[in-house]
Amino acid sequence: MRYHYSREEILADHPYERPLVLDGVPCHGGFVDGRYVSPRTRWRAPAIAAWQARLPAGELEAVLGPIDAAVPPHFPSAAQTRLLVRHGVTVPLVRLLSLIAIVEGFGGDVLRLVALPPLGERVTDDIDGTALAHLGPLFEAHARDEAGHRKMWELARDIALDRPAVPKDLASGVSPPATPRLFPEIAADLEALVLRMLGVLVIEVFAVAAFRWAKEVLGDATLFRRYEEARTLIGYIQQDESPHMGYLATALAELRCRSLAGVSGGTIPGRDVVDRGRDLIVGFQAGPRHRANVDFRTQVVERCLADHPRGASLLAEFRALG
Ligand SMILES: [Fe+2]
Ligand SMILES: [Fe+2]
Repeated sequence: MRYHYSREEILADHPYERPLVLDGVPCHGGFVDGRYVSPRTRWRAPAIAAWQARLPAGELEAVLGPIDAAVPPHFPSAAQTRLLVRHGVTVPLVRLLSLIAIVEGFGGDVLRLVALPPLGERVTDDIDGTALAHLGPLFEAHARDEAGHRKMWELARDIALDRPAVPKDLASGVSPPATPRLFPEIAADLEALVLRMLGVLVIEVFAVAAFRWAKEVLGDATLFRRYEEARTLIGYIQQDESPHMGYLATALAELRCRSLAGVSGGTIPGRDVVDRGRDLIVGFQAGPRHRANVDFRTQVVERCLADHPRGASLLAEFRALG
């Protein structure tokens, strides 16, 4: 198995029979033997598999298990969203799809802008031939994928809802909060990197609920004429996410089973930093952050139903489905 890959290889596409183009919009990725293949996975996918195969048994699961177990349910649910759309109330759906598109775009930049520490000094065990040693090009591939996803989510929205008007006040409150130092025992640049990777990994894993919701809602044949195309497009986006979770979880697992250089000499078990950072971020995202989303989205629904002729009974039905 190969463990070393060039930047060009990590960013390389498969030779596609045809690229993915929908409604005249060129997207990323393409088709091989008639099957959709995600962009930049010609070597990135086998590379991630090779690095994962080098991890001690159970390490990957140790990183991912507690995140998988904490995925909050999507709000509003698919049933609630379909009820609204059935009665012509599409603004909450349009808002959410547009917001997902914006957050996807941010997700990429957040990684591209991270300053990579000299990991050979920050990690006292060898990192040759690991995901950790390839983070620069992996972040770049991830950022390019998410820029494509922004366009693809907007396209799925426009296909299903026939180019709806998009509210202008969407992007507020999505920037990550500034955090105080959590691990003063390691270098600040390493802490920033670990927390950034954990933050994005948690969002990627939690997004499974959003994908399920979007496929169920936009894939409803009774609501949308072009349901099949919208659902298929969302399926392609979801397929592209798998290398993101793959390399992030792998690099964090590699850190978890290594020793980190302490700022005042000695070493710190990577496991302490990764597990504590993960649990803090999961607790915040599944707790206060999720509740704030539910509150805000409830207000949007209430506002949309306020001047609907059947508003009161629809709101009661919406709540009963919750
Ligand atoms: Fe994405
Ligand atoms: Fe992603």
